[in-house]
Amino acid sequence: MTIAALLAALSLAAQAPAPGAGGRGGRGGAAPTAPAFVRPAAYPERPPVAKDILDRGRAAYGVNCNFCHGSDARGGEGGPNLLRSELVLNDKRGELIGKVILNGQGEMPAIKLSDSTIGDIADYIHSFKVGGYDITRNPPPSILVGDAKAGEQAFAKTCGSCHSVTGDLKGIGSKIADPKALQNGWLMPGGGGGRGGGRGGPSPFNVPPVTVTVTPTGGKAITGRLVRIDDFIVTLTDDAGTQKTFRRDGEVPKVVINDPMKAHKDLLPKYTDADIHNITSYLVTIK
Ligand code: HEC
Ligand code: HEC
Repeated sequence: MTIAALLAALSLAAQAPAPGAGGRGGRGGAAPTAPAFVRPAAYPERPPVAKDILDRGRAAYGVNCNFCHGSDARGGEGGPNLLRSELVLNDKRGELIGKVILNGQGEMPAIKLSDSTIGDIADYIHSFKVGGYDITRNPPPSILVGDAKAGEQAFAKTCGSCHSVTGDLKGIGSKIADPKALQNGWLMPGGGGGRGGGRGGPSPFNVPPVTVTVTPTGGKAITGRLVRIDDFIVTLTDDAGTQKTFRRDGEVPKVVINDPMKAHKDLLPKYTDADIHNITSYLVTIK
């Protein structure tokens, strides 16, 4: 072998990556930015992203995109599944996603965000695992993505003052077998008004109605089921089933509304998505 051939062989060997030297964009001249490097089109493997970028991306996504594309970017709330989008797959760090954000597309409004925020959001979306379990294909188990153990703790903290899984909610996971109905049911037991209210059909629960007590000046208090109330009248149905209407003038007569579901209504805006999933995942285990 000539010296020249030997040198050529050595330099070829030097270009092969040393085992265990897995750092990305290492010091070597043959960095991944070399033009010959081509990303596979489908399910590209992305380099890991720093936690502070992901945290910023998650926050910005939560405020601007979650509402329509879902907290897991798999869509279903009015926007499409972003993880199956060709455009998202081909996006590197917001150069394609950003065009959609800044210009809007179809039903999606244009959203004014800075380039750096768009980059963070793009990194955050790309951090989702594309493979694995696809919630849009398996609607029923999709809401059982929570952690039942965390749900048990959340239940004790948030619900335990009024309910018990060995008392009034005994066997709730068997009584309402469909997790979606169960979730809508505990979120807003009276039905309606809840997140995504109306979609779940009639409430599986019989909750006590809203009542009202009207006390006319110098008269006797009358309590009944509230039928309607506005600034001018209040109408109730008394125990005998008779509907009674009172004219209202400011503080007269005295009107006190008792909504047994007030606690639930007040809690609604306080749950995080994680609370909701965890509590549902816990309640289905209460057989
Ligand atoms: C008001 C609802 C809504 C909001 C908010 C919203 N989107 Fe969209 N988005 C949509 C809809 C609907 C489409 C489908 C548009 C079409 O092509 O008809 C869409 C499409 C997209 C697409 C294109 C997907 C493709 O394959 O063409 C991307 C990317 C996208 N949205 C990202 C985002 C990001 C990131 C945010 C937050 C910064 C966001 N969207 C906020 C509703 C929304
Ligand atoms: C401040 C008290 C209070 C809190 C806190 C509370 N609830 Fe309730 N909940 C009620 C009342 C009152 C009803 C009406 C039915 C009844 O009297 O049991 C009700 C009804 C329900 C029902 C329907 C049960 C049935 O038999 O009709 C479910 C399910 C439920 N709540 C789950 C929960 C869960 C889960 C939490 C916590 C995330 C929670 N509640 C927090 C007071 C509360």
